[in-house]
Amino acid sequence: AGGVTYAFATDTQQTGALLTSDVPMPERFKVRLPIPETAKPVKDGHYAFTQRPRKVEIIPGTKTEIWGYDGQFPGPTLDLRRGEPVTVTVANKLDVPTSTHLHGGVTAADSDGFPTDLVVPKGHGGHFKPGRHSHMKHDPSAWKLHTGQRDYGYSLDQPAATLWYHDHRMDFTAPQVWRGLAGFCIVRDDVDDALPLPKGERDIPLMLCDRAFHADGAFKYPSKDGTLMGEPGVSDEYHEGVLGDVMLVNGAPWPVLDVDAARYRLRFLNASNARRYELALDNDAPLVHIGSDVGLLDKPRELSSLVLASAERAEVIVDFSKYKPGTEITLVNKLGADDMAEVMRFRVGDKVDDDSSIPDELVPFKALKASDAVTERTFKFEYSSVSGHGSMWTINGEAYDPGGSMAKIKLGTVEKWTLISDVHHPVHAHLGHFQVLSRDGKPPRDTDAGWKDTVDMRPLEVVEVLIKFEGYKGRYMLHCHNLEHEDMAMMANFDVV
Ligand code: C2O
Ligand code: CU
Repeated sequence: AGGVTYAFATDTQQTGALLTSDVPMPERFKVRLPIPETAKPVKDGHYAFTQRPRKVEIIPGTKTEIWGYDGQFPGPTLDLRRGEPVTVTVANKLDVPTSTHLHGGVTAADSDGFPTDLVVPKGHGGHFKPGRHSHMKHDPSAWKLHTGQRDYGYSLDQPAATLWYHDHRMDFTAPQVWRGLAGFCIVRDDVDDALPLPKGERDIPLMLCDRAFHADGAFKYPSKDGTLMGEPGVSDEYHEGVLGDVMLVNGAPWPVLDVDAARYRLRFLNASNARRYELALDNDAPLVHIGSDVGLLDKPRELSSLVLASAERAEVIVDFSKYKPGTEITLVNKLGADDMAEVMRFRVGDKVDDDSSIPDELVPFKALKASDAVTERTFKFEYSSVSGHGSMWTINGEAYDPGGSMAKIKLGTVEKWTLISDVHHPVHAHLGHFQVLSRDGKPPRDTDAGWKDTVDMRPLEVVEVLIKFEGYKGRYMLHCHNLEHEDMAMMANFDVV
């Protein structure tokens, strides 16, 4: 039992298998970077999204059917304020059940967007049978079904941060996010507003993801039987994760952004199913790291490059004011081979007034100490055999059990978790936010700084984190955010009590 697999890694810095597009590759740096629109409330404190298919032009000259919140990919950005609770109604007009998780959000358990807490489209109630053909344990009692639509309530008692929302349906998160069900949620607060950081049109969310396309422009995904309501899961040869060969930023292939010669705040989100990036500027200018997954750092740090695994966010400041009009600067990915070595381009325009600056101090930060932990737990993320199932992606040797729970955690306490990996696993916890304490007994890396909700585990690595649970009691989960691993059962529930 148990085993380590390194098959299909397309380079040593990725766990995944490359899916090749049939569509001719678009010319780079021709399409303008789209900025996702900001969601408008339908009334005070109330937003409404409709998940629906729509045909859009991603690869110039072709049409792609996306599944989007309000038919958009990325979905509209929820731009919210700390301390102002909101309701988000999600209506499902797709042909498949969905669940919407606010990633990084401190949310009540019944609004967490659990994998078994689904919005089933009207008219599909009879067709949909929870857990049929599932990779996971069969436990119909764990399922909660809403017909047509439901409300999610977010109380937003958390610092300003770049969060995101995405589909989380059990067994099908990977193909449903691949088709477009993801968007930003930016939380703002007075502390962030008072800092002299770039604002407005110089504060830009950048959703990075890789995709592959059929010759006619349709999304290509290696599902087992090519349908989404039938057999779940990715075909066996892609069980390590699906890597696409077209780089999308905010849904556009290798786009270009015209920038003023001024400072910009860039909010990177890696929304890829499996791909990791090491981001850098091709002129070797630094990325000034100011924010992590769930908030601003204590102070800015200059980085020459920035590793971002699936679901991680990093906020940086880039100063374009030093460059002459017309200068072109490419954002590159040092882990990407061939086509995936470039991400997007910035084209510098005229010098403008810029009253922004990068303060020496950002927000107060209290480093947790190992002695703060009241409980220690170990979670091992590995490919191992599960009785009756063959080999699967597991946590502590177990496939996801929707009705089970791996831990009881006391609300308000700090725990020390030791995470162990066989291959790359971006490990994510719901509700809890954590600080990385060590990697293989050594200090964490630069990009582990600050409060996190996802950590980039490398092959055969042992990572210790100090995790704090605040806000709500109830059932939450931890899982691998390589979406193919997640769909192949690398998830576990825990209870906050
Ligand atoms: Cu972004 Cu449980 O996921
Ligand atoms: Cu994984």
